[in-house]
Parts: sequence; C-alpha cells; structure tokens
Amino acid sequence: MDLGISNRKAIVNGGSAGLGRGSVLALAREGAQLYVSARGEERLVRACEDIARETGASITPVVADHSTDEGRSRILAACPEPDILVGTCSPPPFTGDYTKVSNDDWLANLEVTLLSPVQFMKAVIPGMVERGWGRVVNIGTGAAKFPAQVRILSGPPRAALVNYSVAVAKAVAPHNVMVNNVLPGMHHTATIHDTYTAQAEANGTTYDEEIQKFIDEWKIPANRFGDPDDLGAFVALFCSEQAAFVTGQSLVIDGGLTNATF
Ligand SMILES: NC(=O)c1ccc[n+]([C@@H]2O[C@H](COP(=O)([O-])OP(=O)(O)OC[C@H]3O[C@@H](n4cnc5c(N)ncnc54)[C@H](OP(=O)(O)O)[C@@H]3O)[C@@H](O)[C@H]2O)c1
Repeated sequence: MDLGISNRKAIVNGGSAGLGRGSVLALAREGAQLYVSARGEERLVRACEDIARETGASITPVVADHSTDEGRSRILAACPEPDILVGTCSPPPFTGDYTKVSNDDWLANLEVTLLSPVQFMKAVIPGMVERGWGRVVNIGTGAAKFPAQVRILSGPPRAALVNYSVAVAKAVAPHNVMVNNVLPGMHHTATIHDTYTAQAEANGTTYDEEIQKFIDEWKIPANRFGDPDDLGAFVALFCSEQAAFVTGQSLVIDGGLTNATF
C-alpha cells in the first residue's frame, strides 16, 4: 500500500538507533524527506547513510540534544516546516524503590520525555494547521498505560504526554493534523542490547537467554521481543495520508503482553 507521503518533510527526533531508527527506515521506504536528530554524531551519520543507501531517500542528520532549547533550535532550523513529527529518546533508567527516585531524577527525565515533545508540538503544529496537513507520532511506552514501580521515570511522564497530545489532537483535528502515540513493550534496541548484554555477563549467560528469561517471567504471548521494524511500520501508518480520520489514539505494541478485551 502506498502511504501517500512521498516527499513529505519529516523530523524524527532520536532516530539513530532503536525504535526511532526503525521509524526513520519505515518513513524512508515511503519516500519521505527526513531530518533525523540524535546527540551522538558517529552513529547518527552512519544510520542516515545506511538508510539512504537502502531506500534512496533524502536523509539529513542533525546532531542535537532535543531536550535543550539549543538542540531544538538546530533541528527546527534544518527543517522549519515539517509535515511529520516523530519523537523518541532513550529509555529512562529502570527504577527500584520509588522512595529513592530524587527530584533531580524527575526533572532530568521530564525534560527529555515530556517537555521536549511538548515544545516540538507547540513549535510545529501551528504551521501544519495553516498548511492543512500534519501528522505527529510520539513514541512513548506501554508503562504509560500499565504502571510499574520499575518504570516510575518512564510511565508517568509519558502518561502526561499522552493526555496532552490527546487534548491537542482534538483542537487541531479539523485542520487535517492528526496526533497519535505508540506505546511500545519490549523490543530489541540499542539500549535493550546494552542492558541485557551487561546482565548476561554478570549472570554468566547469553543475551538470548536473558531475553527468554524476561519473556517467560512476563509471559509475552508472541514469545519474542519486537524488532524496531515492527514498531516503525505502525509509526509510518500513523504518518500516512490514510491516517486522516484517526487521532488522539495510543496504540500498544507489545506482542500481546497487556491485552484486555478492549
Ligand atoms: N526498547 C524497548 O524495549 C522499549 C520498551 C518500552 C518503551 N520504550 C520506549 O521507546 C523509546 C525508544 O527506546 P529505544 O530502546 O529505541 O532507545 P535507544 O535504542 O536508546 O535509542 C534512542 C535514540 O534516541 C536518541 N536520543 C536519546 N536522547 C536524545 C536526546 N536528548 N536528543 C536527541 N536524541 C536522543 C539516541 O541517540 P543518542 O544517544 O546518540 O542521542 C538514539 O538514537 C523510549 O522512549 C523508551 O522509553 C522502549
């Protein structure tokens, strides 16, 4: 199916690895013109070059920390009038006892997980409204919907982001600007690779064994972790021409882990 976004300009914040990279690849396959940010230059440039080579898409790397004003200005200078905005970041650290989470931990995480996407939406949605076309997708976390003490720094800010984005979605829907969220469960990404490789080394096991342990413990029905491509495909769908009548939604993509009747 042609998603109808060939040559649409798209910003992907946090697109050099993991689920952001999967989204860049899916949008590039649709011919979108991409502007991709990350803090680390080497991995970013490599990702953009690899995906451009594979898809033939135009992909501009923008080295920037999107949780800062300076970083946000750099990204918006590279692409002042995006049709599409996709936002993600590295997963916040796992948390243990909730009483040990400090105010500084909260503030640092709120900057990148909540306030940055809010600033970007404020900066780009008015232009989308004027032009009569826009798509925004926030990559959050399943923990926004299904709270857990281990995800104290990850779930609550993204629950707030979903609430905010649904409010904005309703306000701008008459202008063909659609705002949706994807809420991932466990996927093989750069951070997950580092985390479970370290755990395997500590336990004298392998990465695959640690992943299987998690799958068995949490009983993931699909019996696997997702790949960034699994999630990227749905991000591209929410960015498509066809997504003109779907807004304010939060799609959980987790291999069936948290399914309920509705
Ligand atoms: N992977 C999972 O299983 C999983 C499960 C549930 C939820 N999630 C959520 O999905 C999202 C993506 O996770 P992931 O596992 O794909 O992460 P990842 O593999 O660590 O990739 C994160 C990407 O974001 C970039 N990034 C991080 N902070 C940034 C910043 N301040 N400014 C610009 N770029 C930034 C990273 O590059 P640099 O480091 O070079 O900046 C990298 O390209 C997170 O919100 C996470 O909470 C993931």
